[in-house]
Amino acid sequence: MPDIAGNIDNWEETLAARYPAPVADAKSKAAYRDYRAEARPSVKEFYRLNHTQQTFDFVNQKRGEYLPKQKRRMGIWEAMEFLNTLVDDSDPDTDLSQIEHLMQTAEAIRRDGHPRWFILTGLIHDLGKILCLFGEPQWAVVGDTFPVGCAHSDKIVFAEFFEGNPDAANPRYQTSCGVYVPNCGLGKVNLSWGHDEYLYHVVKDYLPEPALYMIRYHSFYPWHKEEQYEHLTDAHDREMLKWVRAFNPYDLYSKTAVRPDVAALTPYYQELIGEFFPAQIDW
Ligand SMILES: [Fe+2]
Repeated sequence: MPDIAGNIDNWEETLAARYPAPVADAKSKAAYRDYRAEARPSVKEFYRLNHTQQTFDFVNQKRGEYLPKQKRRMGIWEAMEFLNTLVDDSDPDTDLSQIEHLMQTAEAIRRDGHPRWFILTGLIHDLGKILCLFGEPQWAVVGDTFPVGCAHSDKIVFAEFFEGNPDAANPRYQTSCGVYVPNCGLGKVNLSWGHDEYLYHVVKDYLPEPALYMIRYHSFYPWHKEEQYEHLTDAHDREMLKWVRAFNPYDLYSKTAVRPDVAALTPYYQELIGEFFPAQIDW
């Protein structure tokens, strides 16, 4: 496996190792245990950077920078081609391109007979990774997301690294609700900055509500897998959780070494994009 520092896809490979496809329970638990024991130094370093630098102030600064959406105007397909210029320096001959990854996820959803908006969500869910091309470091683009401004759950992977986060020394941010009101709803909670939240704001006017939850919270493993932070959710979040969970297996297990036929699939996906999105949107 190539080094995580050089490959945007490596965090997702670590997720699949951490949350293996449900086969035998005992086996899954063993895999989880091994994951921590065998995590390579580069993986630990990724989480150390992420957990120490994603502070309440950092997230607010990035929200101020990106949420006005004044970086670019481009269509969804154009954004896919832009993301595709993100070349993994580790092993370009065997790694699939970003468009191939996106199509694999969408095709797996399509094969299972889900609605068109669900297929489209699979296609676009990682487009927020263009943050890398705007110069953001990987720890501010990928990684499990978690709330900032309140106590860090000890169920977050490598939670011990939060000791080095300046927010851990601020009592205001270290109660279970921190700066938030109990059951205020996740929409009012700032999560660590990354590709989920950015893309949510880019597409929020164009897709149905379950799609927006899938996009906004697909990396929020502490909530949808570890069942943490329920005291910050409202009834609507709890209703939408089933959609976030319905999406997760496609995110985790659809990326195989088999190359999709991009040229043959392009007309289908361009038509699907046109069904929901105008020619250009703000990024
Ligand atoms: Fe993602």
